Amino acid sequence: MRIFTKLSAPLCLLFVFLCLKTAFSSSIHASSFSTTHLCSHEEALALLQFKTSFSINYTVLYADNCVDFFYTKPNYSKIESWKEGIDCCSWDGVSCDNVTGHVIALNLSCSFLYGTFPSNSTLFFLRNLQSLNLALNDFRLSKIPSEISQFTRLKHLDVSFSRFSGQVPREIAHLIKLVSLNLSNYYDSSDLILETTTFKNLVHNLSEVRELVLSGVNMTSVNPRFFMNLSSSLTTLELFETMLRGNFPNSIFCFPNLKNFYLNGKRDLTIDLPSSNWSSPLQWLYLGGVDCGRRLPESIGDLKSLQSLSLGCNLEGSIPASIGNLSQLIRLSLFSNNFNGQIPTTLGNLTLLTSLDLSNNQFSGPIPASIGNLSQLTYLILSYNNLNGQIPSSLANLTQLPYLFLSYNLLNGTLPPWIFTLPFLEQLYLNHNQFQGQINQFQQNPLTLLDLSNNELQGSIPNSIANLVNLSYLNLSSNHFSDLIVPDMFSMLQNLEILDLSHNNLIGKIPNCLPKSLSVLNLQANYFDGNIPFGFPEGCGLRNLNLHGNQMDGLLPRSLVNCRMLEVLDVGNNNISDTFPHWLESLPELQVLVLRSNKFHGFVHSTKEGPSFPKLRVLDLSSNYFVGALPLRYIENFNAMMDPHRDGGSPEYMMVSTIANSYQCSLVVTWKGFDYELQGILTIFSTIHLSNNKFEGEIPDVIGKLSSLKGLNLSHNNLTGHIPSSLGNLTNLEWLDLSSNELTGKIPDELVSLTQLSVLNLSNNHLVGHIPQGSQFNTFGNGSYEGNLGLCGIPLSKSCDGIGTPPSSFQEKD
Ligand SMILES: *[C@@H]1O[C@H](CO)[C@@H](O)[C@H](O)[C@H]1NC(C)=O
Ligand SMILES: *[C@@H]1O[C@H](CO)[C@@H](O)[C@H](O)[C@H]1NC(C)=O
Ligand SMILES: *[C@@H]1O[C@H](CO)[C@@H](O)[C@H](O)[C@H]1NC(C)=O
Ligand SMILES: *[C@@H]1O[C@H](CO)[C@@H](O)[C@H](O)[C@H]1NC(C)=O
Ligand SMILES: *[C@@H]1O[C@H](CO)[C@@H](O)[C@H](O)[C@H]1NC(C)=O
Ligand SMILES: *[C@@H]1O[C@H](CO)[C@@H](O)[C@H](O)[C@H]1NC(C)=O
Ligand SMILES: *[C@@H]1O[C@H](CO)[C@@H](O)[C@H](O)[C@H]1NC(C)=O
Ligand SMILES: *[C@@H]1O[C@H](CO)[C@@H](O)[C@H](O)[C@H]1NC(C)=O
Ligand SMILES: *[C@@H]1O[C@H](CO)[C@@H](O)[C@H](O)[C@H]1NC(C)=O
Ligand SMILES: *[C@@H]1O[C@H](CO)[C@@H](O)[C@H](O)[C@H]1NC(C)=O
Ligand SMILES: *[C@@H]1O[C@H](CO)[C@@H](O)[C@H](O)[C@H]1NC(C)=O
Ligand SMILES: *[C@@H]1O[C@H](CO)[C@@H](O)[C@H](O)[C@H]1NC(C)=O
Repeated sequence: MRIFTKLSAPLCLLFVFLCLKTAFSSSIHASSFSTTHLCSHEEALALLQFKTSFSINYTVLYADNCVDFFYTKPNYSKIESWKEGIDCCSWDGVSCDNVTGHVIALNLSCSFLYGTFPSNSTLFFLRNLQSLNLALNDFRLSKIPSEISQFTRLKHLDVSFSRFSGQVPREIAHLIKLVSLNLSNYYDSSDLILETTTFKNLVHNLSEVRELVLSGVNMTSVNPRFFMNLSSSLTTLELFETMLRGNFPNSIFCFPNLKNFYLNGKRDLTIDLPSSNWSSPLQWLYLGGVDCGRRLPESIGDLKSLQSLSLGCNLEGSIPASIGNLSQLIRLSLFSNNFNGQIPTTLGNLTLLTSLDLSNNQFSGPIPASIGNLSQLTYLILSYNNLNGQIPSSLANLTQLPYLFLSYNLLNGTLPPWIFTLPFLEQLYLNHNQFQGQINQFQQNPLTLLDLSNNELQGSIPNSIANLVNLSYLNLSSNHFSDLIVPDMFSMLQNLEILDLSHNNLIGKIPNCLPKSLSVLNLQANYFDGNIPFGFPEGCGLRNLNLHGNQMDGLLPRSLVNCRMLEVLDVGNNNISDTFPHWLESLPELQVLVLRSNKFHGFVHSTKEGPSFPKLRVLDLSSNYFVGALPLRYIENFNAMMDPHRDGGSPEYMMVSTIANSYQCSLVVTWKGFDYELQGILTIFSTIHLSNNKFEGEIPDVIGKLSSLKGLNLSHNNLTGHIPSSLGNLTNLEWLDLSSNELTGKIPDELVSLTQLSVLNLSNNHLVGHIPQGSQFNTFGNGSYEGNLGLCGIPLSKSCDGIGTPPSSFQEKD
């Protein structure tokens, strides 16, 4: 599901916060006084010298953030204006005291400075500095110089996102006048370390501090208890990704001036929400990932100034009705907790809310009608709960709403017609519910995404779908739709990228003319018949074509080679009658080719030299009429199945991602004789199914090179010769089926090295001799071997009479 794709948390947070800060930041600019020459020669010289320490580099790590979020002129550094002969007080980023002429503020944020920060920098001559902003430059993992303590008058210090690293010098605690300190450093989170004594002194000394921003700083060694001693002047405390552990003092909620508090971490960081005495004028509260006790206290309703409340910290129980007292609330995010009970109706009192996200909890009961009062809502996200009943008609009043996500609930009833008249609705997720009945009419709202999959909708897909001209993602799969009134209506949807109509009862012909924008066409498990008609045009952008389980006949259209980006082609379980499509071998991205259960026939062999099927890792030709030798030359060239490192890293699902959408591919696999639909295809999944054909000759040795194979099924053919011992090299193999062939000789002992093997079927061949012992072979039963009259040894009752099998008690020792 695309919206729940997890961005890396710090990245996501940085994005949100930089955005918000930009939106709310006032545009105070360094004041310049160009009329009188105020700047002293020494200070000008110190600055010019400082300038020479760095180069200007417009591709530094944060360059894009600067241009996007701070509206800095692209490819202009403030220090370019620093020139001898011009009053330094008029240089960009420099501010002077208008009486003494001393430089008192330096704002070099986003100046594209690149280079190590010298500890003997002439910058430290500027003893009158009150404000120093070096944010968003690249000091190439320099240490923050301890000389910084020479700025005894400093009130504002911002060195965030400037790639300082190492220990924050303990001298920083000498800057006792600091009012704001920003050391945040998300991307190099492991690099800037704040040590516990330094922090303790900092907290002790900074009696004036109002804003403390330490996100991304490694505070592993810091005892959270010290936060208790922070100045009561504190207004902002931002602690994302600090690696703090232990118990964070909840007295923070009693700080008389605290307005913004952001804390995230893991479960090893706990903070108990107070049950009373919240005395702070909190406006923004964010607690993520940490553990904040069991329940959300009734007293949360006392925080009358709250504008944004975001808690994802393992809370359970119900949400107290008092939440309705937070009348200033603009954003409420309580997703990914374990809340249960009903959604409180008092939420309807929070009429300033623009965003409400209660997803990923266990809320039950109906969606309260009072939600319809929240007329400012732009996000309403209630997915992944157990909500039931119908969508309340009051939601028809949410006329501003672009994003409505109600998927994965137990909602029922028919789809209210007004939902398609909400004038600003862009994304509608109603999938995985129990909606029933027909859809009468799609109206013209600006929907780009519509997911109604996994419901009980029926009847025809009305041709008014063509009204949704902005649609780029349409998923109607797993319903009971039975008819496409005008199949070609889809050609009207010129922006459509993902079209999934799979698992319905659709009949008729496949739409003739498809939108050029299409990346995914999934019509699996319907009753479409006739030819695959379409001529795929030059430049066809299809990446996933799934027609599995219909009644298509005729040939596979040769024009498919125009779809150079094709990754998945599944036409299994149809009546296609054709020869092997060797012409697909040049498709550079093809990973999955499924032709099973059709009437394909003839030889399978390559017609050309050079690479063929370079990325193929799932090949299913089973249950066709292929003849001749196994396709040796292809097998030799299946490079994607030979990668020994495939299993490194965490497995990922195969996705088709476009700019606007992403879509998880599925695949029907046969496992122990039954078909299953894998909802996600892991990118490490490699299988070859050639069963139920008329392949003959020997199994080539070279098959042992396909080291990432998880499944190999060559059963029900006419294969002869021995089982190659090279199969023992397929150490990722989980199932192996060579049954019902004419194989002879012994079962190679090398197969004992297949330690992942859980299914083995060698039955109905002419194998002889002892069955290998040990490892997985201790787990297979008689069935794996039956119909081979010459086999002996465990598990068969026929013993080998000393010809090769030692007594089993001896065997078990290895
Ligand atoms: C500092 O410089 C940045 C980038 O040019 C600018 O966005 C910001 O407003 C400045 N800050 C102050 C306090 O002037
Ligand atoms: C500029 O910064 C980028 C990113 O850190 C770095 O790869 C590149 O080498 C730098 N360019 C120069 C000329 O130093
Ligand atoms: C800024 O300069 C860099 C390299 O010097 C270049 O890649 C980039 O496109 C430029 N950006 C703009 C907005 O001109
Ligand atoms: C600069 O001068 C203005 C009056 O023009 C005054 O209000 C302000 O306080 C002065 N600033 C400093 C830092 O002295
Ligand atoms: C700073 O120290 C370096 C050597 O560590 C020296 O080359 C440089 O001249 C010094 N700069 C100043 C301004 O003293
Ligand atoms: C650093 O924190 C201060 C204080 O909250 C804030 O004003 C400043 O914008 C922050 N800097 C950046 C680059 O976000
Ligand atoms: C954080 O700093 C400690 C030293 O205080 C270090 O041992 C640890 O590896 C650092 N953590 C990360 C993730 O870099
Ligand atoms: C808050 O909501 C409840 C229930 O929806 C309602 O009875 C009450 O009058 C509302 N309070 C205010 C102040 O609007
Ligand atoms: C819809 O769900 C409600 C609550 O679960 C149930 O009482 C009602 O019978 C359901 N209606 C239909 C038509 O299934
Ligand atoms: C929508 O709001 C209007 C007034 O704002 C109200 O009269 C009407 O009852 C509401 N509709 C629903 C379905 O709640
Ligand atoms: C199997 O192959 C042999 C030749 O190797 C042939 O004689 C026999 O007819 C084939 N059997 C079937 C069922 O095709
Ligand atoms: C199997 O692996 C062994 C070494 O591990 C190697 O000598 C042999 O050539 C391999 N066989 C094949 C067919 O790849």
